[in-house]
Amino acid sequence: DGQYPHLFVIMGASGDLAQKKIYPTLWWLFRDNLLPSETVFYGYARSKMTVDQLKKKCESYMNVKPAEKERYEEFWTLNHYMSGQYDSRTDFEHLNQELSKFERGPTANRLFYLALPPTVYENVTVHIRNACMGTKGWTRVIIEKPFGRDLESSEKLSSHLASLFKESEIYRIDHYLGKEMVQNLMTLRFGNRIFNPTWNRDNIASIQISFKEPFGTQGRGGYFDEFGIIRDIMQNHLLQILTLVAMEKPASCQPDDIRNEKVKVLKSIQELKLSDIVVGQYVGNPEGEGDAKLGYLDDPTVPKGSVTPTYALAVLHINNERWDGVPFILKCGKALNERKAEVRIQFRDVPGDIFDGKPKRNELVIRVQPGEALYVKLMVKTPGMAFDMEETELDLTYGSRYEHIKLPDAYERLILDVFCGSQMHFVRSDELREAWRIFTKILHQIENEKIKPIPYIYGSRGPKEADQLLVNNNFTYTGSYKWKPKM
Ligand code: BG6
Repeated sequence: DGQYPHLFVIMGASGDLAQKKIYPTLWWLFRDNLLPSETVFYGYARSKMTVDQLKKKCESYMNVKPAEKERYEEFWTLNHYMSGQYDSRTDFEHLNQELSKFERGPTANRLFYLALPPTVYENVTVHIRNACMGTKGWTRVIIEKPFGRDLESSEKLSSHLASLFKESEIYRIDHYLGKEMVQNLMTLRFGNRIFNPTWNRDNIASIQISFKEPFGTQGRGGYFDEFGIIRDIMQNHLLQILTLVAMEKPASCQPDDIRNEKVKVLKSIQELKLSDIVVGQYVGNPEGEGDAKLGYLDDPTVPKGSVTPTYALAVLHINNERWDGVPFILKCGKALNERKAEVRIQFRDVPGDIFDGKPKRNELVIRVQPGEALYVKLMVKTPGMAFDMEETELDLTYGSRYEHIKLPDAYERLILDVFCGSQMHFVRSDELREAWRIFTKILHQIENEKIKPIPYIYGSRGPKEADQLLVNNNFTYTGSYKWKPKM
């Protein structure tokens, strides 16, 4: 009867992001009955295609269980597709007519997901504004990085968007903000008494936020080479985590109260300097197997002789009363020895030691992935007769404590938030500006001076020079203890 209260439009429906992430996410939300009922999905892209062809393209990413077959077919009956150009007003007017056919009810809201290359952002957003705004409800636009490539280009994009939409209509995704343990930071810090009194320069030696991936660019080298690891991971994902670790307590849990605090802490961070950073690029491992034999420069989509970093370690300083002198170490890399993302808060040595230097530093580790966990590394008396001491842990591993709870994927949460109109886990334009301010100078310097990244072997821990920077920044690695994931 054409009465659908929500229309979800996927711009770039035939592309990589749509197939691998957006359609699967919509399906999982639909499968679990999490979407508002009677949501219609509308794909738009340049390729001429039927919904059936689209369905086939997505198939291998959808993860459909035999028992869900019927539900799955139902999902696709709610899908539509139209091909059109990104720079044609007429095509968008046509799209608008198509969308209106589902909007015969009293209210109809529209969500536009821009799964597009940045080169067409400007056109598409202008056409959405001029031809496709909902008339019977709200319109919200979801966009993905890259939000520009430095302060200037990002500001240009921001003011372009601001000329078309209100900030409350723009949802900038940083999918790390959709992860369980990242969202948990607020609760841990402000919902407990035990952490906050020690959360400062008097007790904390250094904070390390790291992201490691055990694979290289995997054919994404063309995109990656234009951006590099600093823009791909550090300036967004890791810096977002940093703000949640370092910000002051917000006045309330309202999205703008939280984002105000995030902006404030970013403003206290000085621009990075070359002496604060180590950059690396992976080379093949002759003894490795398969992909591991290949270095970054062996990727045919990477330009010859590229000096784009695939690894970076940077030390940031927050110039405020809580954090003065505490290094915040951001570390990220591709083709390393493991997959892991975590926050590691290392406490200072115990003053007035009576144990002959045996106590090792306490650490609080928030393990983002894989295997979400929270653990505190601490000293205990060695169990048994001896009066010696050893390192152990207080361990909250989600997989064992919450055995039967399925944690949703980051995109599932975030897309649902857009339906609900909650911007808490989305990046506001002033946050973005501050993030670029911190990194722009060093990014330009690395590019203009063609700073050579230090080679590191595929599957290794990264360049050794990075370890030295850690030592210089009050992070002590003893190697005497290893937490074992209980996955
Ligand atoms: C993306 C980066 O934002 O995050 C990729 O562009 C990276 O390079 C990915 O692989 C990692 O996300 P996740 O959720 O797998 O840790």
